Amino acid sequence: MSADPTPGAVTQPAPPEISPDAAAAIAREHWGIVATARTLGSHQDRNFLLESDDGPRLLLKVANPSVSAAELEAQSAAAALLSERAGCRAPRARAFPDGTTALRLEIDGVVMHARVLEFLEGATLSGHLSRPVVEEMGSLAARTALALSDLDAPEAERVHQWDLRHARAVLDELLPFVADPALRERLADVAASAWSAVEEVAAELPVQFIHGDLTDDNVVTGDPVTRIPDGVIDLGDLNRTWTVGELAITVSSLLHHDGVDLAHALRAVTAYDRVRPLTDAEAAVLWPLLVVRAATLVASAHHVLETDPGNDYAAGNLDHELAILDAATAVPLEVARALVAVATGRAADPLPLPPGQPLLPWLAGEDVAVADFSPTSPVLHEGRWLEDSVEADVMSGCLGSARVAVARFGEARLTRSRLHDPEEPCNVALGVELRVDGPQPVAAPWAGTVATTPHGVLLRSGEIDLVLGGVRSALRDGSVVDAGELVGEVEGTLWVQVLKAGVQAPRFVPRSLAAAWRAVVADAGELVPGHPDSPQEPRAEQLLARREAVYADVQEHYFPEPPVMVRGWREHLVDADGRVYLDTLNNVTSIGHAHPRLVAAVAEQWSLLNTNSRFHYASVVEFSERLAELVPDPLDTVFLVNSGSEAVDLALRLGQAWSGRTDVLSVEEAYHGWTYLSDAVSTSVADNPAALETRPAWVHTVPAPHPLRGRHRDEPGRYAADAVAEIERLAAAGSAPGAFIAETLFGNGGGVALPEGYLAAVYGAVRAHGGLAIADEVQVGYGRLGEWFWGFEQQGVVPDVVAVAKAMDNGHPLGAVITTREIAERYRAGGYFFSSAGGSPVSSVVGLTVLDVIRDERLQENARDVGGYLKGRLEELGERHPLIGVVHGSGFYLGPELVRDRVTGEPATTETALICARLRDLGVIAQPTGDHQNILKIKPPMCFTRASADALADALDRVLTTGW
Ligand SMILES: Cc1ncc(COP(=O)(O)O)c(C=O)c1O
Repeated sequence: MSADPTPGAVTQPAPPEISPDAAAAIAREHWGIVATARTLGSHQDRNFLLESDDGPRLLLKVANPSVSAAELEAQSAAAALLSERAGCRAPRARAFPDGTTALRLEIDGVVMHARVLEFLEGATLSGHLSRPVVEEMGSLAARTALALSDLDAPEAERVHQWDLRHARAVLDELLPFVADPALRERLADVAASAWSAVEEVAAELPVQFIHGDLTDDNVVTGDPVTRIPDGVIDLGDLNRTWTVGELAITVSSLLHHDGVDLAHALRAVTAYDRVRPLTDAEAAVLWPLLVVRAATLVASAHHVLETDPGNDYAAGNLDHELAILDAATAVPLEVARALVAVATGRAADPLPLPPGQPLLPWLAGEDVAVADFSPTSPVLHEGRWLEDSVEADVMSGCLGSARVAVARFGEARLTRSRLHDPEEPCNVALGVELRVDGPQPVAAPWAGTVATTPHGVLLRSGEIDLVLGGVRSALRDGSVVDAGELVGEVEGTLWVQVLKAGVQAPRFVPRSLAAAWRAVVADAGELVPGHPDSPQEPRAEQLLARREAVYADVQEHYFPEPPVMVRGWREHLVDADGRVYLDTLNNVTSIGHAHPRLVAAVAEQWSLLNTNSRFHYASVVEFSERLAELVPDPLDTVFLVNSGSEAVDLALRLGQAWSGRTDVLSVEEAYHGWTYLSDAVSTSVADNPAALETRPAWVHTVPAPHPLRGRHRDEPGRYAADAVAEIERLAAAGSAPGAFIAETLFGNGGGVALPEGYLAAVYGAVRAHGGLAIADEVQVGYGRLGEWFWGFEQQGVVPDVVAVAKAMDNGHPLGAVITTREIAERYRAGGYFFSSAGGSPVSSVVGLTVLDVIRDERLQENARDVGGYLKGRLEELGERHPLIGVVHGSGFYLGPELVRDRVTGEPATTETALICARLRDLGVIAQPTGDHQNILKIKPPMCFTRASADALADALDRVLTTGW
């Protein structure tokens, strides 16, 4: 380790003031640059932006007087290496003819050196940092280390405040400037313990020149949408020191950003390790260095404000620096070190439980009943997990059949999760909870010393602490007990936690930190006979790999790292870790996930009978009657199938049978299904990029009648005239369409209403030539629009054939075609129809129950009222966030369209994808739709509440405000 710094080197003097005019004059005189100069903020230098009409923007950097010319030349060399080797932009310095880059200046009797650097256009990082941004920060830090690994500039080595090797001495010097004694003491404490961890391996740490301040403020991004950093600036802290210090500095700078928690920030460590694998010593020391860095940042800010009170830059940063300190010390150092170990693919060894005597000597395994609070627990059905008293009730319930109820160690308790929570739930138990009927003795598993703490009786045994919450003990503090000796008695709840001595752990932690906490928390389950093994951690990545190996990958999945969903309840989804997501997407689940009435009706029907509709039974009749009642005259005849695709397929066959012609007209940007016929009329290039080129010859298309886009955006009424003209043209050419198919409101296009009168005109023209008008109500029909049960009502028309599915089945495979008796008869004359499961007793009961629930729970009215409220909230967001161009739709079929420019309507496609990714992190499932994938398709279960509408709007507001 190099010598400790002198005080003067640590606390640099404030440089003399330089006016922008003086800076401009320096640039002109010495570099021949004619430009205006604008002051930029800096901790210790004087920086100026040079702007001229003809050249690129440049930076005049007048270094602090304490910085030597040699150091500046090293910085210039480092910038050149970075731009050559690190795959990023870097501020190369303008060289004088002799190859040097630094100019000696004397200002107010003070000698300083100035350089002119390339100014890297782009923004530094602010607001939320997405996963790719965080990962790129880690990768950039690694590439920087590799690029500078052979930089050799001995005369540029120096003792320097931000060199983590000197952090201890630096802190000793800076801490007196922290006026608040509590903060000062906290800084001293956290730094002291971190520093001792650093010292353990300091001698093994590789050393080289590093950037020294590769932070959110010192990278730039040229891409304002993804904000992936692609440039490194400000090499003013370049120094030869511990290589790993760079990563500690980089990661610390991420920790104050909105939505960047420890697990998120650690992605930078994983990304770094992939490019430049950390040594074991480096991995061990990373977090301690990060803590030391955080403490130094806070102390230094106080120091700068004392010596340079006008330094707004330092004042503005102080909140961030305190946030970094809080995050860096949010978990004990050993837990943070375990997090780093896991992030870099190292095994994190859990604390072992020493063998001992029984804790509850009177208890046998068969006397124990498990209280299952896991996300798949059968006792938590029907939303019971949301009841405040559920844990106590379930525990008490278990006591009916056992002496003790036990809630497992390591279980992610769904009972701890809440709706609309933007954070990961704090739900993984770091101890065992028992409920004991009647007073019972508790014994010491190991010999040790007893103490009373606010958390319960503590038995310290060598390196292990046993915490027994809820135990009454007559022993005095300091009493020594033998293994097997009684420590007290318990009645009611007993909480058992086994920890590394001296560590305090919460009872519950988030899943992302649970494995790391095991470094200091042992599995207490083994102390309880009959305690089942801790539930296996759900491994989303492994399941995904298995899916990819066996399941055709054209069957895509949402999100690159999808959560494993295990439960649904109303408009909420629950993953295997008990995280609850607001489901804004599942229009199929019209009455809500896991609806108890549907569950009961299906179970009953399965128990009675399920067969095909060639048998005679009541439900298929009743359901068909109910469907026929829902549509206007003359529609009165029903076919039952298993999906929307089948319904559309059959509808098209009806059209072909009716007209005797195969030609069909459909609209662009549409999706109608995947069977041969329904796929043939699907034209959306978002669903199938080749859709328009690969249509069979019998499919004819007309442009999407989009009132806000396309060729008639200023006069949407003309779309109908064009479509009628096309029908006439086709008829004249001998291929009059036998059917016209369209969604009655552009669901696939994001809930966009068709221009007024569009369907009336087109239906009229197609019928005039003997064709049928087919309404695809698969997405938009069945009450979702609020105001109307069917989309065709909004257009004031009655189609000849209605295809319906999705909402009618709540996720069970079910679809229907409703038409006239005459059309159905014409089809019978030339064709055949049988569907093994279509209209089965179970499917029919599903259909009937869904209709009953929609009626009894007034879900269409709810779609109108809450959907209207949500649309209002989204429109209000649009007044503050220009990205929301317009909010389409009605009821629970809404489509906020995201645009870069409201005048041109340029779609914000990448933004929409990134916004969906961030929403998911905030517990909201949303996805893009439309040919430009720039519309959020908001079509939730129809039981969606006002609170859920607020949660969705608030989350979107947060993303649009703090970034994606
Ligand atoms: C408008 C429309 N029609 C038909 C279908 C096909 O329905 P299914 O997926 O049930 O086959 C879909 C499915 O997304 C749809 O959105």
